[in-house]
Formats: sequence, structure tokens, C-alpha cells
Amino acid sequence: MNDLTTVVETARAAFELAHTPAELENSKALFLGKSGRITEMMKGLAALSVEEKKSRGAAINLAKQGIEAALTARRQALADNELQAQLQAEALDVTLPGRQRGTGGLHPVSLTLERIEAIFGSMGFEVAQGPEIESDWFNFTALNTPEDHPARSMHDTFYVEGGSEQAPNLLRTHTSPMQIRHAVQHVKKHRAAAADSTAEGALFSGAMPEIRVIAPGRTYRVDSDATHSPMFHQCEGLWVGENVSFKDLKFVFTDFCRTFFENPDLVLRFRPSFFPFTEPSAEIDIQFPSGPLAGRWLEVAGSGQVHPNVIRNMGLDPERYIGFAFGMGPDRLTMLRYGVNDLRLFFDGDIRFLSQFR
Ligand code: PHE
Repeated sequence: MNDLTTVVETARAAFELAHTPAELENSKALFLGKSGRITEMMKGLAALSVEEKKSRGAAINLAKQGIEAALTARRQALADNELQAQLQAEALDVTLPGRQRGTGGLHPVSLTLERIEAIFGSMGFEVAQGPEIESDWFNFTALNTPEDHPARSMHDTFYVEGGSEQAPNLLRTHTSPMQIRHAVQHVKKHRAAAADSTAEGALFSGAMPEIRVIAPGRTYRVDSDATHSPMFHQCEGLWVGENVSFKDLKFVFTDFCRTFFENPDLVLRFRPSFFPFTEPSAEIDIQFPSGPLAGRWLEVAGSGQVHPNVIRNMGLDPERYIGFAFGMGPDRLTMLRYGVNDLRLFFDGDIRFLSQFR
């Protein structure tokens, strides 16, 4: 191997060792720079004869070209490496799900409440809202459930600060306090309009438009299993007039349920029961029309004719005014409608469950 072949091989090996463009340019200078090996060899030509110059010069040029070719190849290789590294760093996983703007939706129980309001609205019912922190008077006493009444034990709840000893505040256990709150407002308004002259505090027995209202909202009890949650929803219904009977309750509630479930053959069961604020009273059961629980009965509401003592607490004369009330569970209606067998799923906040109702 002559000295020129050696110098080309040495250059190639040196270029190979360069891992960055800067290193490569440094190596290049050792061979092709002003005092590089090739340049030095060219200077050596001066001492040679014309003949020798010719052949030696051509051979050096060949070597120079070899070195330049190796340099170009290495430059290209380094550029390729850099591109590869960059591509790898910026790699896209095209199998990842895209970043979308998610579509929201209403909670299944909200969907049910909207449906309830629409159906009762079409029957001429107003919608009223009331406080979740309620006083003992509206939640119990005004509803014919005085202190120490055994029916209070089924409504164990959370007592909160702010009330007095005689009338403590509590988280309402049902929406029935809205019967009193709404009726009292209604009576007050129409009593003024009727220019009623009876003594203040006396029961109103004049003429007034009927009370027809529903009151949906959150309620609380110390209860937790597949069909009970400590926070749940109720929707109260109240219709008070001069001739509103249990027959009307059966008609209105059955009609509501058949519309709600879009099933004209839906079967309801009015099961005799007891509530201090209604007499007679009934619990209303519905059969799961389909799904895994098909055929099973589920209680969806308490109901009855409003007790005369409650009519009195509304400020009305029970000799003139009668009516019915019901309190239903929208959470349970939602279970029935969608065939869900555990009510707690609605409040776990699991998006995989909830997004199915969008
Ligand atoms: N408030 C009762 C309950 O929560 C239900 C009910 C409402 C019963 C209205 C009769 C009339 O159990």
C-alpha cells in the first residue's frame, strides 16, 4: 500500500469517528486544510522533476478526490442520522385517540326531571322550588307530624346549625314541605285579591283558583343501598280545590306514568299505606316493563288525600278545600326507564356510565 492509499484510508477512518458536523469539519482540516496532509504533499511537488511532478500530481489529485468523496459520504450520513433522530423525537402515534372537544350531556336524572316537568306542565301544573335546608316545622310539624310522632323515625336526617331549639334546621327528608310553602303563598295572594275581610290567621274559605303544583328537588335521608342513596330526588305533586278526590289522583298519576314510559298498558298498583299528612294514603308501585328486572315491582311514590290538619296549616278551610298529594322518586323512574338496577350508579360520577345517556 503506497502513502497515498494510506492517507485516503486514514481520512476515511477519521471521518467515520466524527459524530457531529463540527467534528467532521475539524477532521477535514487535517487532510484538506491549509496545512493538511494533501496540501503538504502538493508543496512537496516543487522539489520534483517535470515528469515526476506530472505523475505524482495526478496521483495526489486522485487521493484528494477520494478524500473528498469520503467526506461527502460522511456528511450525508451525519445529516441522515440527524433527520432520523428528529423524526424519532417528533414521532406521532397515529393510533392514539384524537383530542376532541367532548360533547356534554344532561345527567339521566335531569333528563327525567325535564320529562316530569313537561308532562305535568301539559296538565296545567306549575313548577315550584324550595330550600334543601328546611325547618322542622315545614318538614314535619306542619305536615301533621309533631315531635315524638313515630313516623319521624323513618325520616332520620342531618340536623344543621342555624335553627332554634324549638325549630331546628335540617336537610329536608322529602319535598312535602313544599306543599305547605307553596299553598301558604298561593292562599296569601288570592286572599288579598279576594279582599277577604276575615280576621288575620283565620282559615280562608273564599273562592280562589285551584292549587296545582309540582316541586322537584334534592332530599336527604340516612339510607344507602341499591334502591336508596343518602341524597336522592323527589318530586312533590299537589292539587287542591273544591272537588279533587282520590279518583283524580289515580287518574292523574296513572296518566303521567303511561306518558312518561310511553306505554299505554303500563300497570300501576296503589297499595294502602300510612303517611301522617294524607288520609287515606297509598304507596304507588310500577312493574319494570322490560330489561333484567322485568316483572318486578318498584315503589315509585307515596300519595293520598291531603289530611285536614295539613289543609289547615295551608291556611285553608278543610270544609271547603280538599285535594291530593304525591311524592315520587325521579331516581327510581330513571332506573325503570333505562333498566338500571343500582340507584347509586347515578351519583358515583363515573363518566363511562353517565355518557351512555347523552
Ligand atoms: N313525603 C312522602 C315520603 O317521602 C311521600 C308522600 C308525599 C306521601 C305526598 C303522601 C303525599 O315518603
